[in-house]
Amino acid sequence: MILKMEGDNMSKVLILYYSFEGSTKKIAEYLANNLQVDIKRVEPVNELKSKGFSKFLWGGSQVIMKKTPEIKVLNINIDDYDLIILGSPIWAGNFAPPIYTMFEKGLIKNKKIAYFYCHEGGASKSVKRAMPSFDKDNNELIGDLSCLNVVKNFDMLKDEALNWAKKFVN
Ligand SMILES: Cc1cc2nc3c(=O)[nH]c(=O)nc-3n(C[C@H](O)[C@H](O)[C@H](O)COP(=O)(O)O)c2cc1C
Repeated sequence: MILKMEGDNMSKVLILYYSFEGSTKKIAEYLANNLQVDIKRVEPVNELKSKGFSKFLWGGSQVIMKKTPEIKVLNINIDDYDLIILGSPIWAGNFAPPIYTMFEKGLIKNKKIAYFYCHEGGASKSVKRAMPSFDKDNNELIGDLSCLNVVKNFDMLKDEALNWAKKFVN
């Protein structure tokens, strides 16, 4: 007799995110706690130090020059997961460079991707801009969520994000 074990046919889900100033982290952790799924932060080897205006120059130029900053070893096997709930702040209209590194290094392959992005109103083309990365390596974007001004709107956004993520997590 073949017993159907609990967990069969369930997608394995990872919340993978980068956050510089904490907003994306807050949403990511809320989702992980409420969905009871694994969570991992992508950590650059050399994190941006400046919190002043120069952060925009430094971070923005990294995006525009398509830099792939070195990231720390993740210590998880991404191949174990079917669905990645991917979170990033928007920098210069696209996801942040450490996420770009993940795609350029081929570390995200054959995944369904649900993408949430945190920003302050300048993200209108960000999903379109990210598509070439999402389309690489047999990935498939299955949903996206804009999180505008998380610091101010967290109480509303956390529920919106959770309802959104529940559509993909069985
Ligand atoms: C280098 C840099 C570039 C940014 N570029 C944009 C942008 O193009 N559009 C926008 O709406 N917000 C931009 N922001 C603001 C962040 O996207 C926003 O504050 C986000 O919520 C930060 O997420 P985090 O706290 O997880 O780092 C930028 C922030 C930084 C540091």
